[in-house]
Amino acid sequence: MSAAATHLPRRTFAIISHPDAGKTTLTEKFLLYGGAVALAGSVTARKDQRATASDWMELEKQRGISISSTVLQFDYNGYRVNLLDTPGHKDFSEDTYRVLTAVDAAVMVIDAGKGIEPQTRKLFEVCRRRGVPIFTFMNKCDRPTKDPIALLDELEQVLGIGAFPVNWPFGNGPEFRGVYDRLEKRLHLFERTKGGMREAPVQVLGLDDPAIVSRLDESVYRQGRDELEMLEGAGAEFDRASVLAGQITPVYFGSAANNFGVQLLLDGFLEHSADPGPRRSGERMVQPSDPSFSGFVFKIQANMDPKHRDRIAFIRVVSGRFEREMTVVHVQSGKRIRLSSAQKLFGQQRETVEEGEAGDVIGIIGHDMLQIGDTLADDRSVQFNEIPQFTPEVFAYLTNPQPGNSKKYRLGVDQLLKEGVVQQMEVGAGQVRTPILAAVGPLQFEVVQYRLKSEYGAESRLEMARWRDLGAAVRGIGLDRRLNPRDVTLGSPR
Ligand code: G4P
Repeated sequence: MSAAATHLPRRTFAIISHPDAGKTTLTEKFLLYGGAVALAGSVTARKDQRATASDWMELEKQRGISISSTVLQFDYNGYRVNLLDTPGHKDFSEDTYRVLTAVDAAVMVIDAGKGIEPQTRKLFEVCRRRGVPIFTFMNKCDRPTKDPIALLDELEQVLGIGAFPVNWPFGNGPEFRGVYDRLEKRLHLFERTKGGMREAPVQVLGLDDPAIVSRLDESVYRQGRDELEMLEGAGAEFDRASVLAGQITPVYFGSAANNFGVQLLLDGFLEHSADPGPRRSGERMVQPSDPSFSGFVFKIQANMDPKHRDRIAFIRVVSGRFEREMTVVHVQSGKRIRLSSAQKLFGQQRETVEEGEAGDVIGIIGHDMLQIGDTLADDRSVQFNEIPQFTPEVFAYLTNPQPGNSKKYRLGVDQLLKEGVVQQMEVGAGQVRTPILAAVGPLQFEVVQYRLKSEYGAESRLEMARWRDLGAAVRGIGLDRRLNPRDVTLGSPR
């Protein structure tokens, strides 16, 4: 890694969406355009193509869902990009929320045929609460979409955020040919490539260029021009400060699958989004420019890859510089630990990280004491409190049907609890207390059982607990019967 490369400005963000809106596809296409992979699909690997899937990714494959979050880092166009993928399924919103504490911006993918869906709305709310600037990608414009103007209205009406269309679609569904960049005042007309594996060839023209006639239907061209005139007539100017304040979302139209508009989104996002932001430690804000190192653990994952059966704590660097072999204070225990085994991940591959700075995400291996929410810092008075606690919605008893196997069972359960896959609490009073698992959604229990078996060789038996049986546990976690268990509420930070 060259010295110059280490001083690239950072962009640390997540892509959020309702399942199936195209988050995975867009991630792949960012990697393709970012030069991080030669062919789309080779790293995140589509659900049905995973060559070296880890055991629990096997579960994702079976269920056709995305459970685990991946952190990808690449350099592009003068930036070092940390892209945090998040699970879209609502049962994993806890994991997603934690990931969002580590980002400085988000790209919200919307299926332009469907508009704003429930999970998008929830995730949007979390970003807004955290003051994270949001960029919007209206995906799947190669299929019939809602009226683009209506989509902008929906952002304003449903999410309550102002929308500024940075680019505008020309053609809809099968007629979709490209987008007009309203800031650069150029029309980008794309061609499809087979399977969208390679970058889409593009022709960039002025709106009055006679060459347009050969590429666009007269009616498509007319409609695009009329709509643009209408937008210009509305008189709104692009205002980066409003974007960074979370009042306006820049909107990009395109098709991730066909690579239409992907590069414009990536370039626009990197240019206009936020630098790494500060994080709160008690009464003070720790600034990225603070020279002393600090960071917090926002995610723990074990057994990500059968080739590496170990545990990784993902750390967002908040300030200072990370250097391999450095010794820092683990603030929660007061112990000094040496960060010798730092890795960055790229799909299934790993690479040792030598250094990092504010905004970067690094994976630390082999420190079992690290827990979600923990702070690592030079200065032991720093303690971040970024990670929200969640109100569980579903509860279950988990038991071990094979007493002879209790060591493996216990080990597995302990590890999965440390990862925050589910929470554990106790019901009953006095001596008779039974542990009970609590989660935001039932799929989390399924992951626990699946992972116990595949990673620890431990069978388990699960019995869902009824809400009304949970008196003591419920009081123990500060809920009461007035609260509808269906309302996911973000609790106060630990
Ligand atoms: P997710 O991570 O948000 O859940 O969505 P994902 O990228 O997996 O995309 C969901 C489906 O939408 C996929 O189809 C994907 O190919 C499709 N898709 C993504 N972007 C576009 C687009 O721009 N246009 C169209 N028409 N489709 C798009 P699938 O059938 O579930 O998977 P696959 O067989 O295509 O891989």
